[in-house]
Amino acid sequence: MAEPIIIWIASNAGGVGKTTLAIHVGYRLAQHGVKTLLVDLDTNGSLARFCGLRPPITTEETSAALFSRQFSGNYPVVFPEWRQASEKFGLCLGGDIMVSVALDLPSRTAKEYVLQKAFRKFPPPAEVILLDSPASLDVLSYCALAAATHILIPSPMSIKMAGVDSLLQMIRSETEELSLNPAPQILGGVPMKVAKNADQKTFAAEIKDIFADQGVHCFPAVRENKHFENAANRGIAPLYLYRPGNEACKDFDPIVDAIQSLLSNKK
Ligand SMILES: Nc1ncnc2c1ncn2[C@@H]1O[C@H](COP(=O)(O)OP(=O)(O)OP(=O)(O)O)[C@@H](O)[C@H]1O
Ligand SMILES: [Mg+2]
Repeated sequence: MAEPIIIWIASNAGGVGKTTLAIHVGYRLAQHGVKTLLVDLDTNGSLARFCGLRPPITTEETSAALFSRQFSGNYPVVFPEWRQASEKFGLCLGGDIMVSVALDLPSRTAKEYVLQKAFRKFPPPAEVILLDSPASLDVLSYCALAAATHILIPSPMSIKMAGVDSLLQMIRSETEELSLNPAPQILGGVPMKVAKNADQKTFAAEIKDIFADQGVHCFPAVRENKHFENAANRGIAPLYLYRPGNEACKDFDPIVDAIQSLLSNKK
């Protein structure tokens, strides 16, 4: 299999929609026949719960395995139990165990490269890998950055969007510091949970400018819709399953199209 496209879903704001973005882009790619793997590096276990699974406990069952000194390429991939689930939509789950990984990493040599090395040494069983990480820019985020070929930046639609500038600065300085070559490419920013009120229109214009000033493409917004939360709370996060006719399903299309073009350019 060709080298996978590894996309870090990067944000320095909590609750912005990272996990929701990863699930929708991943599920849609899988529906299009692209073998996709979501790797959860977060401690909160959201990916498991949003997909109707119980967060697992042991290293071997979770993304923690990829950081283990004993990792030998046995990716702990699980699949949601939805009736229409696609076998192309695999998950490596995070949860509490990722706290121990974050605590152990600082004592490792070349700690930022641990995940990059795991992916390079043992090609993961997918064409596209989506990395969901915690909002705190900690050692796991640096691992995600070093492993990534591409980056997607979901942006909050509030005063917190000002943090996008410091995130982009961190990405650039760490890319340099870690001598990442080739440097991961920023695929674009994604304004998330955009409501229809006047405030949000102002923010929508502002975020476009912030990304444009930094030379970063801005994808069309993902609208705010109560069904995202209802679906996640019921463990059937993809709206494609929960409310297939909902207009918000289409909001991810431009991102999915961009990733599919990357894939076809590789072939
Ligand atoms: N477009 C949307 N409209 C309405 N609610 C949304 C939307 N996207 C996500 N949500 C809801 O917002 C909450 C936070 O989303 P999500 O968990 O995806 O964010 P996150 O950035 O991964 O959060 P965390 O930092 O906790 O990992 C969830 O309850 C989710 O269902
Ligand atoms: Mg999350």
